[in-house]
Amino acid sequence: MIHENLLETLGATPVVRLRKLLPRPQDRIYVKLEGTNPSGSIKDRAALHMVEQAEHAGLLRPGATLVESTSGNLGKSLALIGAIKGYRVILVVDPKTPQSVLAYATSLGAELDTVNRPDGNGNYQTARIRRVRQLVQRIPGAYTLDQYNNPHNPQAHRLYTAQEIGKDFDRLSALVATVSTGGHLGGLSTALKEQFPALHVRAVDAVGSAAFGHPFEPYRMRGIGLSWRPGNLDSRPVDSLHRVTDTEALSVCRVLAAEEGLLLGESGGAAVFAALGYAAANPGEPVLAIAPDTGANYLYETYDDQWLLDHGTPLETLWRTPEELLRHARHPLHPPAAVAAGPGLTAESGRVTAGGRA
Ligand SMILES: Cc1ncc(COP(=O)(O)O)c(C=O)c1O
Repeated sequence: MIHENLLETLGATPVVRLRKLLPRPQDRIYVKLEGTNPSGSIKDRAALHMVEQAEHAGLLRPGATLVESTSGNLGKSLALIGAIKGYRVILVVDPKTPQSVLAYATSLGAELDTVNRPDGNGNYQTARIRRVRQLVQRIPGAYTLDQYNNPHNPQAHRLYTAQEIGKDFDRLSALVATVSTGGHLGGLSTALKEQFPALHVRAVDAVGSAAFGHPFEPYRMRGIGLSWRPGNLDSRPVDSLHRVTDTEALSVCRVLAAEEGLLLGESGGAAVFAALGYAAANPGEPVLAIAPDTGANYLYETYDDQWLLDHGTPLETLWRTPEELLRHARHPLHPPAAVAAGPGLTAESGRVTAGGRA
């Protein structure tokens, strides 16, 4: 198939059924592989939609500068969009950002601005947002998409990702989706509940994340979780929340790679761990887990035994066989629980107004 540019290859991501890592052979766990998007993650969808909407609104002029805080994937998406559409891209990153992500972004011409000092709770996210605000004020023509509060982030998933899923499935018992900005969880859950009224939506967050109001504590996984509650996180369509630990998610990543040939990012591992728990409790019911990115982002980290050892996770601390993993998935460290319903709150101190502009 011939395309005018790489952005046209976005979407139509494959769904793969698990064959070996299942509580019972008849169980139906499906994984939507968002890592096959052009820059390697689900963020391509939200980034392109947010940029196009800003262009339509006349907020983003040719040659403008996009400034964004990113733990990795949004930065890759913006680097790609900037290269194709001719925008200067400045990414505010931190020491947790995977090297492969930084190399990808700079190869495509993005500039990096690294925040080295964490904020009060030991995390970098609010420190990065403060830096974005500074840069947007200082650089003429600078613009930030503000993925945490921009309604076009969930809208991209409501309009496009949900339609793909709706075409792939006649029946779906549960959707399992991870959370950082709340973009894909929000857009998918509202749209898919219209098509499948009995759908159970299970949100997946990192133990340590404060997105759903728990106290923040540093954790290892990248891409998932946040140190505050983002405006785009709407918990009203969420039926249960599963808070997953680093060990649970990393173990799934390693077992899935070895047993199913699926190389997922850490949040994809967390989503599959939560999907295993749902499947164990609901025999034979079709459950879809969203895997937001590819493990290629973390080849020299999550998938590198020495790196894990050097960063405090010796291989012996992970569960290595499907049987061991399934035992833990049936009895997770933090069993899924209901969440207090409510719309997203405005992000506290770190908030940057959507569409903020110099
Ligand atoms: C790897 C990964 N997983 C999960 C998420 C969470 O997605 P969302 O921001 O749509 O909540 C992100 C977002 O950046 C991500 O990069």
